[in-house]
Amino acid sequence: MSRVHIQGLQIRYGDVEVIPQLDLDVQPGEFLVLLGPSGCGKSTLLHSIAGLNAISGGRIDIGGQDMTHAEPSARGVGMVFQSYALYPHLSVRDNLGFPLRMAGMARPQIAERVAKAAAMLQLEALLDRRPGQLSGGQRQRVAIGRALVREAQVLLLDEPLSNLDAKLRAELRRELKLLHAQLRNTMIYVTHDQVEAMTLATRIVVMNQGRIEQIGTPAQVYDTPATRHVAAFVGSPTINLVDGSVRGERFEAPGLAWPLAVGDAPALTLGVRPEDLIVAPGQPLQGTVELVEPLGSQHLLWIAGAGRRWCALLPGPAQVGLGDGVRFGLPAQRLHAFGPDGRRVPLVGEHAAPAVLA
Ligand SMILES: Nc1ncnc2c1ncn2[C@@H]1O[C@H](COP(=O)(O)OP(=O)(O)OP(=O)(O)O)[C@@H](O)[C@H]1O
Ligand SMILES: [Mg+2]
Repeated sequence: MSRVHIQGLQIRYGDVEVIPQLDLDVQPGEFLVLLGPSGCGKSTLLHSIAGLNAISGGRIDIGGQDMTHAEPSARGVGMVFQSYALYPHLSVRDNLGFPLRMAGMARPQIAERVAKAAAMLQLEALLDRRPGQLSGGQRQRVAIGRALVREAQVLLLDEPLSNLDAKLRAELRRELKLLHAQLRNTMIYVTHDQVEAMTLATRIVVMNQGRIEQIGTPAQVYDTPATRHVAAFVGSPTINLVDGSVRGERFEAPGLAWPLAVGDAPALTLGVRPEDLIVAPGQPLQGTVELVEPLGSQHLLWIAGAGRRWCALLPGPAQVGLGDGVRFGLPAQRLHAFGPDGRRVPLVGEHAAPAVLA
């Protein structure tokens, strides 16, 4: 198990600052997920750990050794890319053994490692096939296997499941989690899929424009988002956000006034997750159903009311239809507030501690 310690990392391409300044400490055996929108620098960060791109400044230690300028092959990391990049003319067996042959390993030892990885990834029956004779999920397993055979202490995975359909994706996601439980190596996993991040991570790093916005457990990031960006990026459907102001412990926005235990603020954004919105008779706000989206065990209700559109996630099938009137309210204990700089503003009674800001 290896620790990955990044200090003051800077990456510039010409005038473009992709990563202005980044510190990150990945614990041995951790499943760390880098989450963020397209173009925020996730792959760039991963590639710099693998030694695949030039860095402009900073230091990267892997397993207690300074690897800032080490060759990729000397870093003790395995990498799985988004596109499987298998050799089409080689069998699964030879694809798996390829990195070991390149490293000059003896044949019997290669066979042993390949057999072990194939067993772990349920590829045993497919060893003599070529990539063209495999499904997408099977190909992706081979790509993961090729990173595993090197028995690297650190595995870097760049959106390894994004080419797969939803069902296969969920299946391989669970396999990866089991694999990690078995191997206990350090994994750094890039995704922009927040379900993947929530289900796999021991800790999530939420990135935005080359910077870290928050590092925390999935629960910390979801329940106590440190910034408006994190709140909006993590959670599906997206959190309801209302821009307004506060005077005399009252939040005010066009069409909405709501008690809020926080000091006066000329600008404040209030956030309510769809599953926290209260839809029930007797609630203070009046709305009209604009759209119903059944999800099987739950449904989404889009409500027009109090000056905007709200999304509510409710259990079971919908009891109301298009155009129906509903009463709704905001949950006193489950509100999020963000200042004009985007940072979380603690409400009275809220523990300030859980939000881990990078
Ligand atoms: N070689 C390069 N030269 C110039 N700019 C680059 C280079 N590589 C990446 N970039 C820029 O760096 C930024 C981050 O790219 P990166 O590939 O790390 O994003 P990402 O978070 O992995 O996005 P995605 O989710 O789309 O894969 C982008 O704006 C990209 O255009
Ligand atoms: Mg990328």
